[in-house]
Amino acid sequence: MTKILTGLQPSGTLHIGNYLGSILNWHDTVNEVPNAQAFLTIVDLHAITIKQNPDALRQQIYELAAVLLASGVDYKRHVVFPQSANPDHTYAGWLYTCITPMGWLDRMTQFKEKKQKTTEYKESVGAGLYAYPTLMAADILLYDADLVPVGIDQKQHVELTCDIANRFNSLYGETFRIPEFKTNKETTKIFDLQHPEKKMSKSDQDDAGRISLTDSSDQIRKKIMRAVTDDENEVRFDSEKKPGISNLLVIMAAVTGRKKEDIATEFRTAGYGAFKGAVAEAVITYLSPVQQKMRDYLDDIPQLQQILDEGAARAHSISHPKVLEAVTKMGLYLHG
Ligand code: AMP
Ligand code: TRP
Repeated sequence: MTKILTGLQPSGTLHIGNYLGSILNWHDTVNEVPNAQAFLTIVDLHAITIKQNPDALRQQIYELAAVLLASGVDYKRHVVFPQSANPDHTYAGWLYTCITPMGWLDRMTQFKEKKQKTTEYKESVGAGLYAYPTLMAADILLYDADLVPVGIDQKQHVELTCDIANRFNSLYGETFRIPEFKTNKETTKIFDLQHPEKKMSKSDQDDAGRISLTDSSDQIRKKIMRAVTDDENEVRFDSEKKPGISNLLVIMAAVTGRKKEDIATEFRTAGYGAFKGAVAEAVITYLSPVQQKMRDYLDDIPQLQQILDEGAARAHSISHPKVLEAVTKMGLYLHG
């Protein structure tokens, strides 16, 4: 059995770009590997390395869980759980923090970038942002993961995880499996409807450029009808000169399974209004069943919690022997 593990941040508003670019990609990866067991963890402990509003965070955890389940993740076969529901992650994270040289953490580009974004970071950024990769190492190493499919921006963190595992193994004896990084394959990249030169983003203050998974059909229709385009009136794919129209073609292709060239041919002279209307209807038709399932999960939080708690219990039953093995080798007290 091949163990595939990934972590998803419950931060910001989930949008159609996350769904098409990340969640569907996860399904493809798992389906490509024969006899795979996947671990999907909602990394809420990573989310708090940056300031979060508690109510919003809780809601984002539920929404992310609901989307994963609505997308068809088989939660009985795979293991879906919030990171904070298995305390072994923070426990092992501390062990790794203690054996990770600061020089390794200093090199992490994500930390350097995030710290730069915050002025006077020494006063306002918690040390958790610095230790972030050691917690990520725990997510991965506790389950003897074989494969870690993540975006290229996370490659350095996975490499650091391998370094930490090797260091532990050489200090205390063979304990942790060395995982393999797997780049997410090229996925559909969706751009902002109002600023089609930049990616649709979870964190953008302005909601007009983003199709959120919780938007109603009416909101989706309005946002697409108001999408920024150009002053020609010809529907064709040209991401340089016509980023707005090209983005709509990519979206329509992704949700219908058709080729964007065929769609462009069909709508070439139809006018932007008619084209946008067709894109909106295609998106609504595609998203509605997923959104309905998502709402069903969100309308029954106790059931959702039960699924997540069961996932966490299964995760714990796998990670705990690993933690015990590590602490015993290190000479700590913890027992069964
Ligand atoms: P983020 O929203 O940046 O936390 O990213 C979560 C996941 O969604 C990552 O795998 C991203 O690659 C993917 N993703 C985020 N935004 C987009 C987008 N606009 N188009 C396609 N994929 C995206
Ligand atoms: N750091 C990852 C990100 O920002 C999320 C993450 C946390 C993760 N733990 C993980 C990804 C373990 C893969 C494996 O996207």
